[in-house]
Amino acid sequence: MKLKLIALAAALVATASAQAQSAKLKVGLMLPATGTFAALGTAIENGFRLYVTEQGGKLAGREIEFVKVDDESDPAKATDNVNKLIKRDNVDVLVGTVHSGVAMAMAKVAKDTGTLLLVPNAGADAVTGPMCAPNIFRSSFSNWQPGYAMGEVVAKKGHKKVVTITWKYAAGDESVRGFKEAFEKAGGSVVKELSLPFPGVEFQALLTEIAASKPDAVYTFFAGGGAVKFVKDYAAAGLKKSIPLYGAGFLTDGTLEAQGADADGLLTTLHYSDALNTPRDNAFRLAYAKTYKLQPDVYAVQGYDAAQMLGIGLAAVKGDVSKKAEFAAAVEKAKIDSPRGPFSVSKAHNPVQDIYLRQVSGKENKLVGVASKSLADPARGCKM
Ligand code: BEZ
Repeated sequence: MKLKLIALAAALVATASAQAQSAKLKVGLMLPATGTFAALGTAIENGFRLYVTEQGGKLAGREIEFVKVDDESDPAKATDNVNKLIKRDNVDVLVGTVHSGVAMAMAKVAKDTGTLLLVPNAGADAVTGPMCAPNIFRSSFSNWQPGYAMGEVVAKKGHKKVVTITWKYAAGDESVRGFKEAFEKAGGSVVKELSLPFPGVEFQALLTEIAASKPDAVYTFFAGGGAVKFVKDYAAAGLKKSIPLYGAGFLTDGTLEAQGADADGLLTTLHYSDALNTPRDNAFRLAYAKTYKLQPDVYAVQGYDAAQMLGIGLAAVKGDVSKKAEFAAAVEKAKIDSPRGPFSVSKAHNPVQDIYLRQVSGKENKLVGVASKSLADPARGCKM
């Protein structure tokens, strides 16, 4: 009798697990659909969906169902939004987001609940630093990475005195910190750090201050709609001709249509360029352009790669996301076949990747070279 009960219980568990693996996999997309980062959210979702479509709509045999929340890039609403996805919608996986402050709130909930989280943009150093966890992965970058690479580039150009300007929140602060670390290590000096609250675009007084400071160069982090306005205002203030402007590549990614000639010639560092001209990237760009009638950008690549990472982990656990250790082990040892070039993840689950130096020419971020080869974020504070 006892043996029969044990066999019955085992059969029930096996059936439940098989059902769970054949049911649809609910992916909670928490991205901005409004505000200065709205276009970035769309590109990430497009990229994610493109990979899933290429796999026939299924990953590891499980059909993908999407549930969406507009996070408005608002950290104050982030915890409620992520809890809605987990508790109300019962998502199996969280994918998000763009804004570092919102991503940190997501990471906290993911860590507390054990929900799998894939971060397809936000570079908050903490996510793969002190908040790192076995169930949290990033397909994009840490804010430190493009900043650090640009610090080396600007120092090599012979500039000595730099002013920085950015939004006052985690992404801006950390991008500037990465830049400063490399630039000052190489003998340069950041003489003034200017900022304004996110997502403000009242740049005039700060541009006047830059002109008065007469630095050798300016380093900046802005993205999305704010980056469009900053590049245009910098040129309109007459600064483009007199003080070279350098930035983390978000300054000119997905923005060139709107920035026009004001962006021409700008040098930036990022883990993607529009002109890599590899068979992998060319195929991706063609598929993206055919599907969406748009050119892809770095955000589309990061969304695509988040889906690839999910596919790799799911294949190893045959679609059963509850097998977290096996899922993590598979992603940790994978080489992800990204349009940016193959990359692997660090122990803290952040991409170890080449950071390219790019220059704007017309509507493209052309490849100048590799600024920093296989650059790994230092993952300060990660205990995993
Ligand atoms: C961030 O908040 O981490 C971020 C936003 C836009 C582009 C890059 C980084």
